[in-house]
Amino acid sequence: MSTYTTDDNRKVTTRRLTEMKHRGEKISMLTAYDYSSAKIIDEAGMDVILVGDSASNVMAGNITTLPITLDQMIYHAKSVMKATKRALVVVDLPFGSYQGNSKEALASAIRIMKESHAEAVKMEGGAEIKESVERILSAGIPVMGHLGLTPQSINKFGTYNVRAKEKEEAEKLINDARLLEQIGCFAIVIEKVPAKLAKQVAEELTIPIIGIGAGGGVDGQVLVMHDMLGINNGFSPRFLRRYADLSAIMTNAVQNYIADVKSGDFPSPQESY
Ligand code: KIV
Repeated sequence: MSTYTTDDNRKVTTRRLTEMKHRGEKISMLTAYDYSSAKIIDEAGMDVILVGDSASNVMAGNITTLPITLDQMIYHAKSVMKATKRALVVVDLPFGSYQGNSKEALASAIRIMKESHAEAVKMEGGAEIKESVERILSAGIPVMGHLGLTPQSINKFGTYNVRAKEKEEAEKLINDARLLEQIGCFAIVIEKVPAKLAKQVAEELTIPIIGIGAGGGVDGQVLVMHDMLGINNGFSPRFLRRYADLSAIMTNAVQNYIADVKSGDFPSPQESY
């Protein structure tokens, strides 16, 4: 593993992501939900920070992404925006805030942009949400699509297994990706599909395709921060690379602290007034 540094401190924009795709530079994207971790991630040089509705799982402890509300997403997005100078910040429209009708979808997207100052929204789905995506785009709000394993539909899928292995679902994914590009999405996340299919989409489309569990043939990668840092160590799908074991580091630090409190070693005279 190598360490990356950047001396390019220009703000990342949707346009710069397209330029990166066209010159073959891979796009880095990671989730964040709070001020302190967003600051570390931004200063490390991440291109895109996703305020994902995975906050429902890793921050709130829910089993799925469905329970998180628009107000809660805005709370997380505001905290992330206060810390972020360089990365493009994209916020998930949560389940129930855009599927009803396109007016409701636009109202939800406007609340995110106005109240959090984020720079784009992400929405799960293809043809089914075309009207909502178009309406949001018509208000000047950039939209990132999300296809493949879309966690807000987990109750329909009934499993977190790889999607689009069969011809019919793969064809729908390709058509949905074409549609999202044609109506004006600036990028698409493709989650947990065969690498060959994701590569085919990335090669055909001119907008960036960001993969998670979609192989190396796409234009960038996204992971959930708690998974890649090993905070959430009960989740280890094949696509996940763990860059740290923060769970072990934190457990050790907390146990040392407990021991020092119990023994009276903490605080010392030097740590007292
Ligand atoms: O909510 C999220 O973290 C996501 C990523 C898994 C892409 O949508």
